[in-house]
Amino acid sequence: MMNDHHTPVLLEESLNFLVMGRPGFYFDGTLGFGGHAQEILKRINSESTLVATDIDLDAFKYSKEKFADEKRFKVYNFNFSQIDLIAKIESIKSFDGIFADLGVSSFQLDNIASGFTYRTEANLDLRMDKKIVINAADVVNSFSEDELTKIFFDFGEERNSKLIARKICERRKEKKITTTLDLSEIIASVTPFKFRVKTFSKIFQALRIYVNDELETLRVFLNKSVDLLTSGGKIVILSYHSLEDRIVKDIFKYETLDCVCPKDFPVCKCGKVPRLKILTKKPVTPSEGEIRLNVRARSAKLRAAERI
Ligand SMILES: C[S@@+](CC[C@H](N)C(=O)[O-])C[C@H]1O[C@@H](n2cnc3c(N)ncnc32)[C@H](O)[C@@H]1O
Repeated sequence: MMNDHHTPVLLEESLNFLVMGRPGFYFDGTLGFGGHAQEILKRINSESTLVATDIDLDAFKYSKEKFADEKRFKVYNFNFSQIDLIAKIESIKSFDGIFADLGVSSFQLDNIASGFTYRTEANLDLRMDKKIVINAADVVNSFSEDELTKIFFDFGEERNSKLIARKICERRKEKKITTTLDLSEIIASVTPFKFRVKTFSKIFQALRIYVNDELETLRVFLNKSVDLLTSGGKIVILSYHSLEDRIVKDIFKYETLDCVCPKDFPVCKCGKVPRLKILTKKPVTPSEGEIRLNVRARSAKLRAAERI
């Protein structure tokens, strides 16, 4: 059953960066169960608008209904990388605040049908958007050993990637890998007991990132977001693993630079103009109290920047 048991992470901190006093347009790229959206709506005034999207159809339908009476709210079932298209449809030239709380919701993790967790038997799927043509089972049953090794290494940072990929290729000759438990069992067969939980989560994370093209989507979203921010507007991103956080950090940093010419150029020829001012020198992380109440907050990192 669908419920909003997802607890929003770093809620107060996110909103303090995001919302300004004046009327404006706000964008929530990862609506989920509307935890952050609800608070944004509380803080913006009657002339402001919140445009939100979620790639997951269940989350979209749930939040569309939850906010059905809210006139300042527009909801989409688009990828957040289509922020420019959504802005065009809404005739919005620029946003005053852009927010994303990356990854999957508690509902997606706990919902057996989504197949996001290695803890319960489910179809090995891992697609957030069921319109995506390949799922995780297609990847593990048809990609070469080298391709699987690369996915596990690049997107899971797993040291034993090669061994796990080899075992998958051996086992699939005997029987197709179709469920989360089929895959966990193969991983377990080549992983010492004490490393299993970590390794399961790295391999599932790697497949999820690959199937949903999460890192490229994030890059596109961030670049378009900088284009679409009003001067003085804020961008606030919550990430949950180092690969995502690095992308946010690097794109924010690049946008602060006033020159990207090679070091040996005597004069600047690039004409680069800085577009962001970083508001979080170090990422903001949840307090021990928040982590105690919501264990899923433990790896969260918040980075915020302001459009110059
Ligand atoms: C961590 S949850 C957001 C939870 C939400 N902030 C709340 O408090 O209820 C992340 C959500 O982002 C969605 N999502 C992930 N990647 C997306 C993308 N590229 N475009 C749109 N939605 C995405 C997921 O389907 C999921 O519902």
